[in-house]
Amino acid sequence: MTREEAWNLLTEYIQEDFHLQHGQIVENTMMYFADKLGYGDEKEFWGIVGLLHDLDFEQFPDQHCIKSQEIMKEHGIDERIIHAAASHGYGITVDIKPEHEMEKVLYAVDELTGLIGAVVLMRPSKSVQDLEVKSVKKKFKSKGFAAGCDREIIQRGADMLGWTLEELIQQTIDALKTFQD
Ligand SMILES: [Fe+2]
Repeated sequence: MTREEAWNLLTEYIQEDFHLQHGQIVENTMMYFADKLGYGDEKEFWGIVGLLHDLDFEQFPDQHCIKSQEIMKEHGIDERIIHAAASHGYGITVDIKPEHEMEKVLYAVDELTGLIGAVVLMRPSKSVQDLEVKSVKKKFKSKGFAAGCDREIIQRGADMLGWTLEELIQQTIDALKTFQD
């Protein structure tokens, strides 16, 4: 599957800008981690997984990560993409465990990129470029802030990767810096 095919599929099922943006943020974050973790030759593949991971979220929010498997199968999508995308719902809507390092990264950064995005919006500079881990950690602990970003999932993702929360946040900030203001 090419990036263009993935984009065409995504826009068939997702219309809202917010969701399209989220898909692209996770795509670019995944590409950064592919390089960083030694999977540079699979970079586009990691990106496609990121782009498509919420394919069913707009139309089937109650069957998130379940319906997407069906849709992807119908479109003849690579089994590895289907498994990876569905595994980010592990322990929430599906029992498909993140196994591959790519899947663990997706699990960890999906909610965290949202949280960091919300922190950035609160900053006078509105920029991620000079954002520090401690500012994100502070908001991480503040439960009322961006309450939709599930802290437990982020922590579980860090644990799966064997990283500290600080390491995960730092890496994700570094990822966002490569493609955001
Ligand atoms: Fe997501």
